[in-house]
Formats: sequence, structure tokens, C-alpha cells
Amino acid sequence: NEDVYVLGIETSCDETAAAVVKNGRAILSNVVASQMESHRRFGGVVPEIASRHHVEQITLVIEEAMQQAKVSFTDLQAIAVTAGPGLVGALLVGVNAAKALAFAHGIPLVGVHHIAGHIYANQLVSEMKFPLLALVVSGGHTELVYMEEHVKFKVIGETRDDAAGEAYDKVARALGLPYPGGPHIDRLAQEGEPTIDLPRAWLEEGSYDFSFSGLKSAVLNTLHRAKQRGEEIDPKQMAASFQASVVEVLTTKTLQAAKQYRVRQVLLAGGVAANRGLRTALGERMRQELPGVELVIPPLSLCTDNAAMIAAAGTMLYWQGRRSDLALNADPSLPL
Ligand code: KG4
Ligand code: ZN
Repeated sequence: NEDVYVLGIETSCDETAAAVVKNGRAILSNVVASQMESHRRFGGVVPEIASRHHVEQITLVIEEAMQQAKVSFTDLQAIAVTAGPGLVGALLVGVNAAKALAFAHGIPLVGVHHIAGHIYANQLVSEMKFPLLALVVSGGHTELVYMEEHVKFKVIGETRDDAAGEAYDKVARALGLPYPGGPHIDRLAQEGEPTIDLPRAWLEEGSYDFSFSGLKSAVLNTLHRAKQRGEEIDPKQMAASFQASVVEVLTTKTLQAAKQYRVRQVLLAGGVAANRGLRTALGERMRQELPGVELVIPPLSLCTDNAAMIAAAGTMLYWQGRRSDLALNADPSLPL
């Protein structure tokens, strides 16, 4: 009945993050060093720049997380680290730091799947109720994951091309908005009306997969044709129309799956969980169509990439007896 302290490390994309979590639930520290500013002028994450920043930041970020949590390495039961998916050069920095510390201090090492982390962010704010369905939507992922019990994941749907956040960022760029464009589209969408007819990619009957590249192309073509004709397209109208399409597909498929799998809880995670249109539509439709099912949306700081979620998932894996050895490697396409 001893308390379990786990250090989490996350470097899969453009945030260098470390956190200490107690018993998989209580955040003792949650440090995130964002590189956003370094990537902004390139309009997206540049892998080489990301790796270099991680190398510069990782030791400081881990030290800060340990200090804020007021724990020492001898207090830790495990070190949990994101082993994939993500940018391989970025992942390697976290994995190597975790391995070095685990070896030096003789602490068990637990490799964590990034999406498992996003899902276990849930556990830091409320109790997970099974079976559950998680919609993970960010710049890198769009996944519907079904869970019958702890650490048992079934990916029932995923994007076949662009991630939802990626589509937001590309459309934003076409509208001349800064990177990352998701929040800007979201803001404009609140001020406009969805008057422009854009496609919804439902794919085959019964499929929970997603596709956003056709929608993105439709937006780009509409903008292009208007420009050729010398017509003005109101960015607010375009933002609202694009968002309406994304939100309708995401919420409809999530509700269908929630009904089919008779879940008790639906969880929204990833950076796109910040989207006001998505939060509102999902909340309203769940109240109407699935009144008994709980919707959990963690606070934004736990929806975007962080290490507390990796520590939370790592703690559950640790309790289940999962261990990684020092041969743990970064796997950019690690399956869940
Ligand atoms: O989870 P995250 O911080 O990083 C990863 O991609 O892992 O997600 C970032 C993504 C970006 O594509 C950003 O444009 C999108 O989340 N995003 C949003 C909103 N806020 C962030 N997309 C739509 N609406 C928002 N309010
Ligand atoms: Zn993520």
C-alpha cells in the first residue's frame, strides 16, 4: 500500500516535458518547455530543430520537474517515457535520457505509447469508467480508441490522411493565418456562418476512419477559384464552413461508436480538444442522444502534449507489471 511516484518524460514532437505524478492521479509537477516560437516561421514543426531543442532542454526540464515535486530519484518507483509514435530524433532524446537515469539510479523503466498518454490524462482529472471511448485529435493524431479495461486499447478508427489539427493548420495557412492555425480558425468560425458548401468524408458505411485531405482540397480549390474570378471570400464564412464539416464528422462518428460499443464514458483529448465548436457540439449531442454517458474533457494543459499524462499511463502500466529494458528504442510508428 505504498505510494507510487513516477517521473514521466515526453519529447515526441515539439514540447520538451517532464512531470512527477503520485499514484497515477496526483500531479506533483508538470513542466513543459514549448518550442513553438522556433517553428512558427517555418509554418510547422521542423524535425531537426525539434531534436536540437530537446537536447538543450531535457536535463533542465527534468531537474525542474524533480525540484518542483520535491522528490529525489530514490523516491521514484519508475521512469515512464514516450517511446512512440512521433518524430524519431525527438523521441530518442527522451528515451535516452530516461534510460540513462533508470540505469544510473536503478529505477524500473516503462515505455509508453503517446496516445495511451493522451487517454490517461483523463485519470488526472476524473476516474476512468469502462468501457470507454476516447477521441484523440491533435496536430499529429486523429484516433478513436475503445477501451474495455485498463491498458487494453483497441483503435477502432483513425485518419487515412491528414490529422484533424493538421487540416486546421493547412486551411489556416491558406487563409493567411499564423501557425498553428487551429485557434485562429476556431475564433473566426465563432464570428461567421457556415454558408459555403464543403464535403463531409463519411467513408464506407460503418467505418470509424477519418479523412480530411478532401475537405482541405475543397477549401483550397474554393479559395483559388474565387481568386481567379476576382471574388472575395469572407475568411469568417470559410472558417465556419470548414469547422462545421470537421465537427460534424468527428461528433457523428464518435456518437455512433459510443452507441455501438455501449460505453460509459467518452473522453476528448489532444490539442484540437480546445476547439470550441467541437466541445459544444459533442457536449450537446451527447446530452441529447446519450444522456447517461459521461463526457470528460481534461483542462487544455492536459489535452496538449505534456509529461503528466505519460507518467499517469506509465504508472498504470507499472502496476500491470510492464517493464522496458535498456534496449528500449524510439519507434516513430509504434502501434498502440
Ligand atoms: O496536442 P497538440 O498541442 O500537439 C500535437 O499535435 O501533438 O495539438 C496541436 C494542434 C495544432 O494542429 C493546432 O492547430 C490544434 O491542435 N488546435 C486547434 C485549436 N487549438 C489547437 N484546432 C482547432 N481549434 C482549436 N481551438
Ligand atoms: Zn500528442
